[in-house]
Amino acid sequence: MLSASTVQLLESADSTTISDLNALRETVSRFLMRYRFGISEVETKLTILREELNVTAGYNPIESISSRVKTMEGVLEKAARKSIDLDLDAIKNGLSDIAGVRVICSFVSDVYRIMELLTSQDDITVLEVKDYIARPKPNGYRSLHVILEVPVFLSGGPEPVRVEVQFRTIAMDFWASLEHKTYYKYDKQVPQHLIDGLTEAADTAAHLDETMERLHHEVRGYRPPSPDIAI
Ligand code: GTP
Ligand code: MG
Repeated sequence: MLSASTVQLLESADSTTISDLNALRETVSRFLMRYRFGISEVETKLTILREELNVTAGYNPIESISSRVKTMEGVLEKAARKSIDLDLDAIKNGLSDIAGVRVICSFVSDVYRIMELLTSQDDITVLEVKDYIARPKPNGYRSLHVILEVPVFLSGGPEPVRVEVQFRTIAMDFWASLEHKTYYKYDKQVPQHLIDGLTEAADTAAHLDETMERLHHEVRGYRPPSPDIAI
């Protein structure tokens, strides 16, 4: 459904304007398409690791994988905020999170393990790693962020595509989604007691991750006693 202003614009537009708009729409969809392909490549790699480990180790280190491509509105808004020229090449070089993948693991050790297994693959180039697990943000945010480039094989040849991959545990994700909702709801004017509550909850989540990791290792290392063999 087109808005009234769009209908008015289209009615007043001459054929040149309409062909300009069509050309612009095509340029934008071609630009964003590369990021969808980049996400598919990364997701395939993660799915293969997940299934292989499930078969060989009988254990699933990845709870879930989700992804999104920023909308063009989001891209333009962020480019303007970061004073990047509104030119597609400048945007490609200046923004690292147009394509985003989030990988949720049960345990912190899996977060690092899956990150290593993905980024050590020959066709992946790591541009930046931000380890907010080793060094949490002051508000308590924890996650492991990797900005990487993956080649996408288009009809004209391979093109490197930048993807931001966020690795975190279930507890880190639970915290981050509540914190995000809180900031969104209060439009960044969050009351101090809620900020304090979130910081405290981040500590609790980190503690939970430690405890779960310890219990997990103990359970995995446990071998049931062999049954007595009655002669
Ligand atoms: P952005 O301009 O927001 O992309 O930040 P940045 O380029 O400095 O990168 P950073 O690694 O700090 O953050 C990238 C993304 O991580 C954000 O877009 C969020 O998805 C997530 N993130 C970072 N900090 C926080 C936080 O404090 N709370 C939550 N909920 N998410 C965060
Ligand atoms: Mg970013």
